[in-house]
Amino acid sequence: MKVLIIGGGAREHALAWAVARSGKVSKVYVAPGNGGTSMMGGKVESVALRATDVEGLLRFAVNESVDLTVVGPEQPLELGVVDCFREEARKIIGPTKHAAQLETSKVFAKDFMKRYGIPTADYDVFTDIHAANAHIELLTSDDSFPQVIKASGLAAGKGVVIADTKEQALQANTAMFEERVFGDAANQVVIESFLKGEEASIFVLTDGADYRFFLPSQDHKRIGEGDTGKNTGGMGAYAPAPLVTGDVLKKVEERIIVPTLEGMRKEGTPYTGFLYIGLMIDNGEPSVVEYNARLGDPEAQAVLPLLHSDLLGALEASLDGTLGEVPFEMKEGTAATVVLASKGYPDSYETGKEISIESELEELDDVMLFHAGTSFDGEKLATSGGRVLSVTAVAPTLRESIDLAYNAVGYVEFEGVYYRRDIGAKALS
Ligand code: AMP
Ligand code: GLY
Repeated sequence: MKVLIIGGGAREHALAWAVARSGKVSKVYVAPGNGGTSMMGGKVESVALRATDVEGLLRFAVNESVDLTVVGPEQPLELGVVDCFREEARKIIGPTKHAAQLETSKVFAKDFMKRYGIPTADYDVFTDIHAANAHIELLTSDDSFPQVIKASGLAAGKGVVIADTKEQALQANTAMFEERVFGDAANQVVIESFLKGEEASIFVLTDGADYRFFLPSQDHKRIGEGDTGKNTGGMGAYAPAPLVTGDVLKKVEERIIVPTLEGMRKEGTPYTGFLYIGLMIDNGEPSVVEYNARLGDPEAQAVLPLLHSDLLGALEASLDGTLGEVPFEMKEGTAATVVLASKGYPDSYETGKEISIESELEELDDVMLFHAGTSFDGEKLATSGGRVLSVTAVAPTLRESIDLAYNAVGYVEFEGVYYRRDIGAKALS
C-alpha cells in the first residue's frame, strides 16, 4: 500500500513513523514533511507540496496511485481536502469541511454542544464590539471573572484571551473587533465562563459511529516552566495522563463522545477521522474546552508510540466499516515528549541554525526523535521553525520515560535551543 500523509510537523513525522511500521505499507509520502521525514529513508519520502495545496495533493495521489491519505493539520480540513478526495473516490482519513467545523468554528462547536447537552462552559456569541462590551459591562460581580474571549475561527491556537478583569476583557474585545489582530477569525467572538480544573487530551479514531480510544494525554501549552508565560503550540506531553481515571473516561465516553458522534450523524454530517477532545476536569467531572478535528501536537508524539497494534490496519478499518473488529491495543508503559524550540518562540525567532545530533541518540532504545521545523540546507540539517524537534521516550513508568527523554535531549544541540525542564512533573507530584 502507498500512503500519503499531509503536513510537516512532528505529529506528521510520528504518523509517518507509525504507518511505516506496518507490514502492509510499501511507500509513505509526507507532504511537505520536514528534515526528519527526508532522513528516514526506506519507504518514507518527503514530497514538496504544501499542506494547503489541495489540488496539488489530489493530483499527486492520483498520479502516484496512493491508496490512503491521512490529514495531519487543520488547515487542509478547513479547505475541504476530505471532500475533494472523496469526490474523486480516493480514500482519506479526516472529517469533511462541514464536520471539521467542530474545530474550525467555535460558534458551531458551542451551539452543537448546547443542542446535545454536552458539558462545556456557558457562552454567548457576538458579532460587534458594542454588544460584546455591553455584555462585559453587565458583569458587575468580581467572581464573574476570569472571562474567556475567543475568536471563533482558526487562529493557530492563539485566538483565546483569558481576561482576569473587566479592563482586560474590554481590551480583548478591541483587539478582536477593532484592531482585528485575528483577522476574519474574529468576525464572530465567543465569550464564555472560565472553567476550573486540569486539562487533558483524549483522541479517538472514528468511522462516524464506531470509535476507538488512544491513551489519554496531557499537553504543556505555556512556554515557561510551571505553566507560565505565553501560550504556544505545545511544549511537551506525556501519556497516559493519570488524571483521566477509568471513571473519568467513562463519563467522557457517555457524556461527550457518544452524543457528539450521534449528533453529527443525526444532522446528516457524520464525523470521521481523528477527533480530539480538549477536556477540563474538575473534581472528576469532565467538560469540553475545545474540539479539534485531528490529533494534537505534541500529544500525538507521545500517544502514537504507545499504540501496540497496527495503525494502518485501524485506519483502513475505519473506512471499511470494520473499526470495531480490528485490534486497537496499547502498550503497557508510558511516554514522555519534550519539545525543543528556537530561542524567542512563540514570538519571533531566527532560523537556519545548524542542528547537531550525536550518534549516541540513535543507540538509545525506546527513544524517538520527531522533527518539526527542520530542513536540509544542502547536507546540513538546520532549524526552519519555532518548534524544531520532539524527543519522545517510552518506558515502564512515567518517571523513567521523563528521565530517558531528558537524557536524550542532551544529545541534540543547536544555537539558542529552548525547552521546558518540567514536562510531566505535574503527574509525578
Ligand atoms: P482553545 O483554543 O479553545 O483550546 O483554548 C486554548 C486554551 O485556553 C485552552 O487549552 C485552555 O487552557 C484555555 N481555555 C479555553 N477556554 C477556557 C475556559 N472556558 N476556561 C478555562 N480555560 C480555557
Ligand atoms: N496540543 C494542542 C493542539 O494540538 O491543538
